[in-house]
This record gives sequence, C-alpha cells and structure tokens, in this order.
Amino acid sequence: MTSQRPAAVVIMAAGLGTRMKSATPKVLHEIGGRSLVGHAVVTARALAPEHLVVVVGNGRELVEEHLKDVDPDARTAVQEQQLGTGDAVRAGLTAVPEEFDGSVVVTSGDVPLLKAETLHELIAEHEKQGNAITVLTARVADPTGYGRIIPGEDGTVAGIVEHKDATPEQRQIDEINAGIYVFDAATLRDGLSRITTDNAQGELYLTDVLAIAKKDGKRVGAYVTDDEMQTEGVNDRVQLAVLRAELNRRTLDKLMRAGVTIVDPNTTWVDQTVQLAHDVTLLPNTQLHGATTVDEGATIGPDTTLTDVQVGAQATVIRTHGSSSVIGPQASVGPFAYLRPGTSVGVKGKIGTFVETKNTNIGDGAKVPHLTYAGDATIGEGANIGAGTIFANYDGVAKHPTYIGKHSFVGSNSVLVAPRTVADGAYLAAGTALTEDVGPGEIAVARARQRNIKGWVARKRAGTKTAKAAEEALAAQQTNEGAVSDTGEKA
Ligand code: UD1
Ligand code: CA
Repeated sequence: MTSQRPAAVVIMAAGLGTRMKSATPKVLHEIGGRSLVGHAVVTARALAPEHLVVVVGNGRELVEEHLKDVDPDARTAVQEQQLGTGDAVRAGLTAVPEEFDGSVVVTSGDVPLLKAETLHELIAEHEKQGNAITVLTARVADPTGYGRIIPGEDGTVAGIVEHKDATPEQRQIDEINAGIYVFDAATLRDGLSRITTDNAQGELYLTDVLAIAKKDGKRVGAYVTDDEMQTEGVNDRVQLAVLRAELNRRTLDKLMRAGVTIVDPNTTWVDQTVQLAHDVTLLPNTQLHGATTVDEGATIGPDTTLTDVQVGAQATVIRTHGSSSVIGPQASVGPFAYLRPGTSVGVKGKIGTFVETKNTNIGDGAKVPHLTYAGDATIGEGANIGAGTIFANYDGVAKHPTYIGKHSFVGSNSVLVAPRTVADGAYLAAGTALTEDVGPGEIAVARARQRNIKGWVARKRAGTKTAKAAEEALAAQQTNEGAVSDTGEKA
C-alpha cells in the first residue's frame, strides 16, 4: 500500500569528522555544488517521506542554519553526545510522532553518491521479502573498518559485527554494511530500547538492532548493490576528492548522453545544480556552478568559471569569470572578461576582451568590446562603448549610476564620471572626461585642445636620432613642396 514511500527518513549527521581536520563540520564540506548533508537530504526528499529528520550534534548551529537553505521542511533532532549510531537514531526518532508505523529509512550525512533509486530498490526488496529490517550491503575488495554481514539461513542476515569486534574468521567476510537501512518502525524502536554499550568501542551500535530482531524471530535481510561508490562515506579529504571526482564523472556522463558536448571531461566540472540544454559545448577547463543554466547551442570555455549565470542560446563565453549574471542569446563574452554580480547583456550584445562589469545592463546588440570597466551602468541597445572606457561610478563615498542611450557612441579612452546620462543617439569624442549630461544628437568633447609647437624637437632634443629624423622629414617636405604646387598653410 505505502509502497516505496517511507514513514520517515533519519539522516545521521552528528559525528565529529575528526579526520577532516577542519573547523567546518564534516557534513558541510561540499562536492558537486552541494554539501555532503545536502546530498543526503536531496536523496531522502526524493522518497517523499512523511518525516525527514537530520540528527545533528557537532557544529549543530552551522548545520541547522545550512539545512534551512537546503530543505526548510527537514526537521533536526539534537544528539547531545555522540554515543554511537544507535543513540543517533534514538535521538532522531524523538522528532517524529511517538506512535507511527510503517518503514523508517536510516542513512548517513556523509554518503553523498547514494541515489534515491537505490533506496527505492532497498525498500522494494524490504517489502517483497516481508522483512522487519533490510540493510544495504556491498561486496568489496577491502572490507577493513566496515561492519561485516553475518549470514543467517535462507539468504537472511543474522547480524552485523563491527570490524573492531570481529573475530579473524568474521573479518574474512567481504560483504559490508553500507550503513543504510530500512526498518519496520516498531522493530526499530524496540531494538533501540535494548542495545547496550557492551562492545569494543563502548558505543550504542545501531547495527545491534539487527541481531536483536533476528533473535526475536523476525526476518532480517540484505540488499546487495553492485555500485560500491554509492555506499562510500567521506572520512577525510582524500575520500572527499575521490568522491568529488566520481560524482563529477557521473554528472558529465549523464550530460553527454543528454546531448551536451564535453571536449575534455578531465578538466570540466559541473555542479549537480547546473542545467545544460542539448547541443551546448563545454571546452576544456570549464567550471559551472550553482544555479547556472545554459541554453541550446551555446559554447562555454575554454578556461571559464560561471557561478549562477544564465547563458542564452547560441551565446559564446570564452575565458571568462562570471557570477550572478545573465548573458543573452547569441551574445558574445570574452576572452578575458570578468562579469561581477548584476551584469546582464542582451541579445547579440558583446562584452569583449579585458572588460570588467558590475551591476550593469548592456542592451540588445550593444557592444563593450575592449579594455573597459562598467559599473552601475545601463547601456542602451545598439550603443558602442569605445576601447578603454571607464565608468567612474564611485566617488570615494557612494556609487552612482550612468545611463547611455540607445545607439549612442562613446569614443575610446573616455571616463564617465557618474551620475551621468547620455541621451539616445549621442556621441562622446575620444578621450572625453564626461562631467555633464549629453542631449540627443549632441557630441560631447571634454578634453584639452591640441596645439603643435613647431621646431620644438630641434630646440630641445638637438643631436638625437629623433631630431635627425625630423630634419630629414622636413627637408623631404620642402623638396616636395618645391615640386608640386603648394596648397598647404604656411606657418
Ligand atoms: C558504521 C556502521 C558500520 C558500517 C559503516 C558504514 C555502526 C555501529 N557501524 O560504522 O557497520 O560499515 O557505518 O560506513 O553503525 N553518527 C552520529 N552520532 C553518533 C555516531 C555516529 O550521528 O553518535 C553519524 C556519523 O556522523 C556518520 C554516521 O553516523 O554520519 C556513521 O557513523 P560512523 O562513526 O562513521 O560509523 P562507522 O564507524 O563508520
Ligand atoms: Ca563512517
């Protein structure tokens, strides 16, 4: 009846994670754009349980705060002292109604590759066999450190023995406890009330509940997965790196099968939270993070890192570092562009080489092609910003906006001292230091008028190669002037 849908999922995440050697709680370390506990919660949520409980302890304030972002409906239960996994689940059950039935799935906050699909299979096996408890297991080459599965009759499980408590014969067993289970609620509650600390580690072992149930004549079974990586936990930063790489590899495989071209999977990193349409191409050394989305036919990279950036169809983004920005369809960005938060560029717009933007809106077809800083600017459609333009948005105290009207033209090497408005269809002469607004159809020229001083080189730089070159050029000019009719102005 309630097939596949557990009454509760309890995620154990109170442990210290000593081997991480970190000020950050272990379960808040991240791979693939999610914290370890975030992965566990997303997987658990996919089962649509009535109750989702995370058991917190070490670094609980940080973990609780983080969970509010990840899954505001997840409840937390505090395990004051880390007395063992049995005690952790006992704490977890305090967050659900005392008398509830059905199945309780137990997982860990440090097993990030576990998929909901595998939990569904575990629950299906649990129901099919009519088990009171079913444990997820794997056969591994090196079972050192894991709890070993002690077989019972007819493919059942008699119990689990922890590595530290195991006899030499039991240590030969290569079927290990992945630390992921589904329990009948009543069996779990009863078992937890009977476990003791009489073991090598002096802890309350959740695993002891299996032997208790078995001795009571209940059926306890195992579901063996052949995908060992899904059961692997993170204890140190070496394992964190291994699982990060594996998760990324799986993500990229899925994307390639869905129609994304990834030229170099070894140097491409894509978070779980990123969405890519078909016929997107990722060139080497591309990293896509957070809520980044890329529409069809766009090309990203090489050497590009985007975090929370929306990229439109057919856009190209080359050697760019960008965050919290929107790149329109067929727009072109880079090489060597730095898009800071609040940047947007419209359809067929351009942010070119050595351009930094911040809180700046670049209209459709507008171009900022070279060597520019644009901060707090609104640039109208079809406008062109010349090379070396600086939007001076900061007066040392406050930031001010600049508006450039549509189809306006800003000459090279201009500095626009904000707040400033340039109307539609206006020009700025090259080298303008703009301190007044410009009306429609006007050109602003704000720079010193040029004057050329004749004979300066001969007087001030006599004897240099420059003076000699000038002398020769002047002589040649005079010869020419003698040969053709002189229409030039005489000094
Ligand atoms: C546990 C299992 C072992 C299994 C292994 C799989 C027990 C007794 N042993 O061992 O059979 O092979 O997982 O990885 O369960 N935790 C708490 N509170 C505690 C203790 C632990 O929340 O008091 C949490 C940890 O944060 C972690 C999880 O429970 O997320 C597992 O704890 P850990 O200490 O890693 O258990 P293992 O010794 O690895
Ligand atoms: Ca562990």
